[in-house]
Amino acid sequence: MPTVLSHSTLPGLTLLHRGKVRDVYALGADELLIVASDRLSAFDVVLPDPIPGKGEMLTQISNFWFGRTAALMPNHLTGKSVAEALPAGVDLALYEKRSVVTRRLKPVPVEAIARGYLIGSGWKDYQAGGTVCGIRLPAGLRQAEKLPEPIFTPSTKAALGTHDENIGFDQVVATIGADLAEQVRVATLAIYRHAAEYAAERGILVADTKLEFGTDADGRLYVMDEMLTPDSSRFWPAEEYRAGTSPPSYDKQFVRDYLETLDWNKQAPGPILPRAVIEGTAAKYAEALRRLAGITID
Ligand SMILES: Nc1ncnc2c1ncn2[C@@H]1O[C@H](COP(=O)(O)OP(=O)(O)OP(=O)(O)O)[C@@H](O)[C@H]1O
Ligand SMILES: [Mg+2]
Repeated sequence: MPTVLSHSTLPGLTLLHRGKVRDVYALGADELLIVASDRLSAFDVVLPDPIPGKGEMLTQISNFWFGRTAALMPNHLTGKSVAEALPAGVDLALYEKRSVVTRRLKPVPVEAIARGYLIGSGWKDYQAGGTVCGIRLPAGLRQAEKLPEPIFTPSTKAALGTHDENIGFDQVVATIGADLAEQVRVATLAIYRHAAEYAAERGILVADTKLEFGTDADGRLYVMDEMLTPDSSRFWPAEEYRAGTSPPSYDKQFVRDYLETLDWNKQAPGPILPRAVIEGTAAKYAEALRRLAGITID
């Protein structure tokens, strides 16, 4: 059985931040203990129901990809033991698979997104003006169509309660400088290409993915947070893919589709989910983990 955790409590550790999904604790001055909860956010609202096992699945899938891409880009993992970082008396079984010990980095204030297919806000922007983040694309592309080349489409990191906004590369350069901006762009596309190729061999298309980066005290760049999870990426079963329609997916689209059937204004508080939607979402995440990483959590 997967464990269920909505909100972590770790007496004795300093809670720095409760994000929509992760609880972040300080470990001394230079490291963090990051705990992925089972909270699910959709349309940037945290829903009242946890998805059992989601946090464990997110952490395991991220660890898998961090390992596979370490040669392309250093990442925030220290490899240190979670068991040793947890305060005495805490239920190890509840925390071990959902937590990591990381370097404490200074976040680069942009969302680094790579897209290989035209969907979501990319599709919307393209329909409006033929470009995505200032990148001009060929005319006549259909919804969900594969792009000639993967593209880097950064967005702002929105404050709580607001939505991310797509920005041009020039704006990234203006925010973090040309050198760092180029490193982020190259790393994001390299990680995306690697993952897309790997996943395609397993019958999954990675339509797009969002990465976060941070720098250490010496200004060295690392990829951090989560990597190529169903929360940060769109995964499509290759056999059901058809350009021109929005494909079914192994990601949050399942719950988003349910929410779209409701008369909900997409403001907090979010609606209670039916049991079948909770179980269906958990099953989608488990399927992504199994097909991509060959991992099952029991
Ligand atoms: N190694 C790291 N060093 C510093 N911060 C990190 C590191 N890894 C992740 N983070 C930050 O920890 C937080 C993780 O929480 P979570 O993913 O739940 O956030 P979110 O809800 O997506 O975004 P936010 O918390 O910014 O609203 C994010 O703010 C992320 O930028
Ligand atoms: Mg996040």
